[in-house]
Amino acid sequence: MAFLTRKLLALTVVLGVVQLVVGYSYRNCIEDQWSQRKSFHCTRRYFGNMSYMTQDLPVTAVNLTISHCNVSRIDDSLSHLSNLQHLSISPCNLRIIDMKAFQKLSKLKTLDLSFNELSELKPLLFEDLHNLHSLLLAHNKLRALPEEVFLNTLGLETLNMGTNLLTNFFNVAKSVSHLMNLTVLDLSFNHFTSLSYSNVSLPRSLTKLSLSGNNLLTLGCQATLFNYVKLLDLSNNTKLTAKAFQGVDLSHLNSLRLQLTNVDILKFLNISNVSGVHVDFSGTGLKNKTQIEKLCELLKKKHSIIKNLRLDYNGIRSTSFALHYCPTITKALDLSHNNLKTIKCLGFLDGQEKITELYAEHNHLTSLLPCKNKSKPALNKLEKLSYRYNRILSVSADAFHLTPNIKTLQLNINSIAFFDHHALKGLKKLHELRLDNNLLTDLFNDTFANTYNLKILNLRNNRISVIFNGTFHYLKKLTILDLGGNKITQFQAGGFDGLTNLSKLYLDGNNLKQIDTSFYYAFQDTLQVLDLNSNKIRFLRDDKSSPFMNFSKLTDLKLGSQRPHGLTILPRTLFRGLHSLKSLYLTNNKISHIPHDAFDDLTGLHFLTLDNCCVGRVNLQPGVFKNLRNLTKLVIENMGLQSFTREVFGNLTQLRILQANHNAMQSIPVDVLESLTKLQYLDIRNVSLSCTCENILLQNYTLHNPDLQVIYLYNLQCPEDKRRTFFNFNTEVCFIDLEKYLFFCTAVVIFLFTVTPLLHIKLYWKVKYGYYVFRAWFSDHWSRIRDKEENCQYDAFISYNSSDEEWVMDYLVPNLEGNKSPFKLCLHHRDFELGRDIVDNIVNAVYSSRKTVCVVSRSFLCSEWCSLEIQLASYRLFDEHRDVLLLVFLEPISERQLSSYHRMRKVMLKKTYLQWPGPDTTNLLQAQELFWSQLRRAIRAGNRLETEDGIQESYAATDDQTEKPCEDQTPDENCPLLV
Ligand SMILES: *[C@@H]1O[C@H](CO)[C@@H](O)[C@H](O)[C@H]1NC(C)=O
Ligand SMILES: *[C@@H]1O[C@H](CO)[C@@H](O)[C@H](O)[C@H]1NC(C)=O
Ligand SMILES: *[C@@H]1O[C@H](CO)[C@@H](O)[C@H](O)[C@H]1NC(C)=O
Repeated sequence: MAFLTRKLLALTVVLGVVQLVVGYSYRNCIEDQWSQRKSFHCTRRYFGNMSYMTQDLPVTAVNLTISHCNVSRIDDSLSHLSNLQHLSISPCNLRIIDMKAFQKLSKLKTLDLSFNELSELKPLLFEDLHNLHSLLLAHNKLRALPEEVFLNTLGLETLNMGTNLLTNFFNVAKSVSHLMNLTVLDLSFNHFTSLSYSNVSLPRSLTKLSLSGNNLLTLGCQATLFNYVKLLDLSNNTKLTAKAFQGVDLSHLNSLRLQLTNVDILKFLNISNVSGVHVDFSGTGLKNKTQIEKLCELLKKKHSIIKNLRLDYNGIRSTSFALHYCPTITKALDLSHNNLKTIKCLGFLDGQEKITELYAEHNHLTSLLPCKNKSKPALNKLEKLSYRYNRILSVSADAFHLTPNIKTLQLNINSIAFFDHHALKGLKKLHELRLDNNLLTDLFNDTFANTYNLKILNLRNNRISVIFNGTFHYLKKLTILDLGGNKITQFQAGGFDGLTNLSKLYLDGNNLKQIDTSFYYAFQDTLQVLDLNSNKIRFLRDDKSSPFMNFSKLTDLKLGSQRPHGLTILPRTLFRGLHSLKSLYLTNNKISHIPHDAFDDLTGLHFLTLDNCCVGRVNLQPGVFKNLRNLTKLVIENMGLQSFTREVFGNLTQLRILQANHNAMQSIPVDVLESLTKLQYLDIRNVSLSCTCENILLQNYTLHNPDLQVIYLYNLQCPEDKRRTFFNFNTEVCFIDLEKYLFFCTAVVIFLFTVTPLLHIKLYWKVKYGYYVFRAWFSDHWSRIRDKEENCQYDAFISYNSSDEEWVMDYLVPNLEGNKSPFKLCLHHRDFELGRDIVDNIVNAVYSSRKTVCVVSRSFLCSEWCSLEIQLASYRLFDEHRDVLLLVFLEPISERQLSSYHRMRKVMLKKTYLQWPGPDTTNLLQAQELFWSQLRRAIRAGNRLETEDGIQESYAATDDQTEKPCEDQTPDENCPLLV
């Protein structure tokens, strides 16, 4: 019946107004989580045209990113998105953009059309984009620009046309010259050979101009071309020589890149008015001692200080040069991407004590030698030192003796296997130490003895297997310790001693077999993030430990991907005490069972992922999420879930995002979804939702719910037939079913209407008496009568049919009442209360009389009321064991004739009865006299059912009466009481 109601409901819904409500799912786009209909991504939709993607996006859209698609043309299919501010269509194989494509997008601020196949732009294409700040057209096939293409985009600040086929600089300069806010112009990797142009100038606002990767031979332009440019990139113009700069004003430049050009840098500095300290000398071929020292001398002629000296990409092989010829370097020296084999205690920096940063990344350094014995002044200002990406194998004691004040030391991505106990000696200010991606196997308990100000220590991806007692003893200020990707199997008892301020501990990718937080006591009050992913933790029993009980600040806990067997069992007490936890990761774990109370303490949880957490098909226990009232995002992908029930999910009232793809449930009850009142984002891709009538409500709900986005709803396939889709599977069949139900119901109703009258005629009285007997049985009357039973009002209630009234009045009453024998009789026509219900009267009569005398004749048998009286009396006989019934037969009635009166027969079999002597009896008067005395005795006799010897057996009826007792009478005519 419930099913039927639902169907009817669905019918109304489908036919009704709800149809008009616009749904909240998109054909080819996904609204970003949390973005409130503002931000959309349409990715990897390789078919169809633009409107296919954008047609169902709402007008509220602010950000739209269309990527990895195959639309060759943009027509007017964006025109309804008038609030767009950020639009990216890249890469999409775009070839043509219609002139009106962006017509209505006047709020657009950034437009990214990079990585397409555009070879031309329509002249008025950007006409309406008055608010455009940033236009990215890189990696297309543009050869030229229409003259007035940027006429109205006066707010343009960034224009990137890198990697196109532009050849005419004049053409470009002219089209941007009026853009008074343009600051960045990227023309790298085009086909310019010169910068000749006339009577236009670049906007004054333009500060960054990139012309790298062109084929510039000459600059061939007015002296004033770069008058306002601050950053000029001319790198990778392999044919450009120093001569080209003759007469060009570069005095305003802040930074000039000349990498991979043919410019002789020393010659260039001589002929140009550029400020040498602003030139980037990376990749300018300054290889050897002489060249570098000459450069320094040249620079020093004009400048006493230089902020940054970049000497990277120069193929420098040795540090034999001396930088004391240079102006004082106040910030950074970059020697990265050279061929340095040794750094020799930084001898080349003699005289450069002001330097603060030194980079020697991507060289061939193999060791860092001790520097203690060198009698040199220390580089006290140096704060940042980076030797990343070298081949350093060993770091000796006192390797940083001459740089005692470094705060950041980057030794990561080397081959350090030997790291001396005293390597870090003296680095009292060290703040961040990167030693990740090396070959370290051991840490000694004095390695960090001096670095007591360390806050961040990264030891990821080494080969550490044991954390020895006292290793971190001195690191009281450490907040982040990354030990991920090592081979740690155990901690010694005091392994983490001293880490009293640790807030993030990464232990992922090690070989830990259990969660033994007894080692973590030093930081159990401060730890916020604990990463134990990819260890070998496994539970074989539901053990009772609650390792995180005292971690009052822990917000992030990762326990995913335990190798190789997964967690196997999730102990029910594992997460006890984690009231502050916000994120929990349990992915890839082959858990066999999630106990219903496992998450009970996680009342503050916001994010839970169970992606592929479990083995086989899982059924989540009812109530498993009952306390997660703050959960906003839940990932239950790849769990083989077979059902989605209110008992499991119903309590997640704050849930906004539910990712449930790859599961096995065939339906999702709509009422469960409705109970998740905040749900906005539902991902049910690859869930085998069946396209059957069972899901008709779900289909309708997902299509028309205005608050719930179902990811790629219109692509969800029917598991039964992949060519069909869920959102439009045919629901008419369900209503055909409904017709069947309707038919069935009508048939039943008609049947009942036909049969009821027949039954009425045949069984009316039976039913009615049944009812009365039942009613009498229950009425309160009953108990009342019962109570006063012992002192009865009457001696006998005479039950007779009106056709026998004559006999009763003429014979019975005179013989039992009056002077002969002073019985008090109850006669219906005389003693029944007027205006009272017949049944009540009868019941009353039977129960307020000591005996009930039934005067049985054929008419009596036919009277239904009399039958009621017999039934009541015989009820007392059989059920109450009170013998109240006396049968008096007025005429002989054979047993066969009685056969249809079961109760009567039963009474007759149980008891004897009196027979009124018929007219043909011999000695009639005597017989009658005997009859009366027997009757009187019987009435006088007690009620207790015992063998009554007072009544003798009378003659049983012997005649063979052929006619039935009430052949031509109907009960109604027969019953006086009914009239
Ligand atoms: C839209 O994109 C911009 C830039 O990419 C970003 O700053 C902004 O937060 C985004 N807006 C929304 C609603 O996602
Ligand atoms: C140019 O930038 C200034 C300062 O950022 C701004 O006030 C002005 O509106 C911008 N001009 C245009 C045309 O957008
Ligand atoms: C220099 O330009 C050429 C072609 O223009 C390109 O192949 C090369 O990758 C560029 N090199 C750098 C370092 O940009």
